[in-house]
Amino acid sequence: MIYTVTLNPSIDYVVQVKDFELGTLNKMESDRKLPGGKGINVSRILHELEVDATALGFLGGFTGTFISDWLNNDNITTDFTVIEDDTRINIKLKSNEETELNGRGPHINEEEATRLLNQLSNLTEDDLVIFSGSKPPSLPADYYQQLIGKTVKANAAFVIDTTGQDLKNALAYHPFLVKPNQHELEELFGVKLNGEADIIPYGEKLLELGAQNVIVSLAGEGALLFTKEGSYRGISPKGTVKNSVGAGDSMIAGFIGEFSKTNDIKKAFQMGLTAGSATAFSEDLAKRADMETIYQQAEVRKI
Ligand SMILES: Nc1ncnc2c1ncn2[C@@H]1O[C@H](COP(=O)(O)OP(=O)(O)OP(=O)(O)O)[C@@H](O)[C@H]1O
Ligand SMILES: [Mg+2]
Repeated sequence: MIYTVTLNPSIDYVVQVKDFELGTLNKMESDRKLPGGKGINVSRILHELEVDATALGFLGGFTGTFISDWLNNDNITTDFTVIEDDTRINIKLKSNEETELNGRGPHINEEEATRLLNQLSNLTEDDLVIFSGSKPPSLPADYYQQLIGKTVKANAAFVIDTTGQDLKNALAYHPFLVKPNQHELEELFGVKLNGEADIIPYGEKLLELGAQNVIVSLAGEGALLFTKEGSYRGISPKGTVKNSVGAGDSMIAGFIGEFSKTNDIKKAFQMGLTAGSATAFSEDLAKRADMETIYQQAEVRKI
């Protein structure tokens, strides 16, 4: 079974305002409420690809209920840890410019944190856990390490898509996949990178540090895949970008979903590129049909 873990989900409140002005009354032209959170995005794309997965993470209050109802309505399997505090709401204000206002996230007490950890005690070597996104500040600093510790102890595989120290610490536990974008890769090594030739040594370095597979995603420029058997250049399909939020999450879901079906790393990469781009070309996350339309346009070349 595949599990996704979202420690700090959100309701994304997407608001459209014509010529937004600070300090006055503005009227919304439209507003939408969507479930947000990187692991939840991964679960939604896996569901589109008809790959079984269970979404784990913390949800609480009326905002949490909104998210679980929404996902259950779409037949996405969930087993969230229910907490007392309310799940956060993030505001995405779309006007002449885009402004985001993100919540810090709920208070999570020790008992609640332990309950999610204990869910991972039932993992087996046939399972894979995808950890995505940052954690709310109320969780212990080493919480990701505790979760990874449980996963590794059960001989289950894991993917981690987060930033900074949590990502660094995870490498020694041999994640099946890490997928920094260029900015995250630069931050990780404290460098500025210009073009493929600059990026390649740092992708390889992540393999040396313990990752089994590394994707460095480059938005519209595609991505690079590093494996023990060799490296590949991925070329993304071309199209009109509508909203690239969640492209990286979609890429992880495409890669893992296809690998779980075929065990073929090149096909997995092609589906990762496809799912990422299909999401960038959609208002919300990609649908299965969007991915089928552009799959053949995604190209994978050996470096
Ligand atoms: N503008 C675009 N045009 C075509 N494909 C895109 C575009 N943006 C993203 N993609 C596809 O999605 C993949 C992942 O995108 P990106 O590198 O932006 O991930 P990310 O920064 O982790 O995104 P996020 O964290 O917001 O989900 C890219 O490698 C590419 O295949
Ligand atoms: Mg990302």
